[in-house]
Amino acid sequence: MRKIIIAIDGYSGCGKSSTAKEVAKRLEYKHIDSGATYRAVTLYFIQNEINLNDNDAVNEALGKISIDFIYNKELGKNETFLNQQNVEEEIRKMYVSEMVSPVSAIKEVRGTMVSIQRKMALDGGVVMDGRDIGSVVFPEAELKIFMVASDEARARRRYLELKGKGQEVSVEEIARNFRERDQQDTSRKESPLVRVEDAIEIDTSDLEFEDQVQMVLDLANEKIGE
Ligand code: DC
Repeated sequence: MRKIIIAIDGYSGCGKSSTAKEVAKRLEYKHIDSGATYRAVTLYFIQNEINLNDNDAVNEALGKISIDFIYNKELGKNETFLNQQNVEEEIRKMYVSEMVSPVSAIKEVRGTMVSIQRKMALDGGVVMDGRDIGSVVFPEAELKIFMVASDEARARRRYLELKGKGQEVSVEEIARNFRERDQQDTSRKESPLVRVEDAIEIDTSDLEFEDQVQMVLDLANEKIGE
């Protein structure tokens, strides 16, 4: 059976990653969370106090970074490794979320991440989620989804997710971070978040998780059968 590329783009917190992960599992495809690559770089920049305005420092840092996704059988999902260290939990914390948009607006960062993401997808059969997957990383993707959800639904879901992981954050703090990231991600110069013409929009505000997974699976199976 032919293997396709599925690109899922959209605003922060619409359920892109969780949907992509489940769709990939059911199709026996690889899931690549491109946002995790930007988060890992951001963590490295924070830990090493890289000045975002210093081009040489940014380039030097990018040369020292390796990012891998390693499948954890017990958890049934990929975990993000930065220079061989498991950073899966750390990169989801609020202090990283606060810095990730300015870091991902840097042209050199995007160039490096896009080539890492393309390499990870070399064998095909991929579900990749992010902001520029259908527009820049895989403009040739057979299926492109653009996910949206109301501000309330997004903030409520992320609050429950972080709370479940024992992280102390308020719904207001999350909503503010989403607003700021949406603004920065859509207005940046380098490959901003856009809805490409051939993307199919899915509004997840009132959908059960299983329904949004099934919608993407139905669309994918249609494409696979073509
Ligand atoms: O998907 P996420 O919320 O974990 O992504 C974190 C940030 O990374 C997001 O606010 C912008 C950036 N990002 C990006 O610029 N391009 C992508 N393809 C994925 C994420």
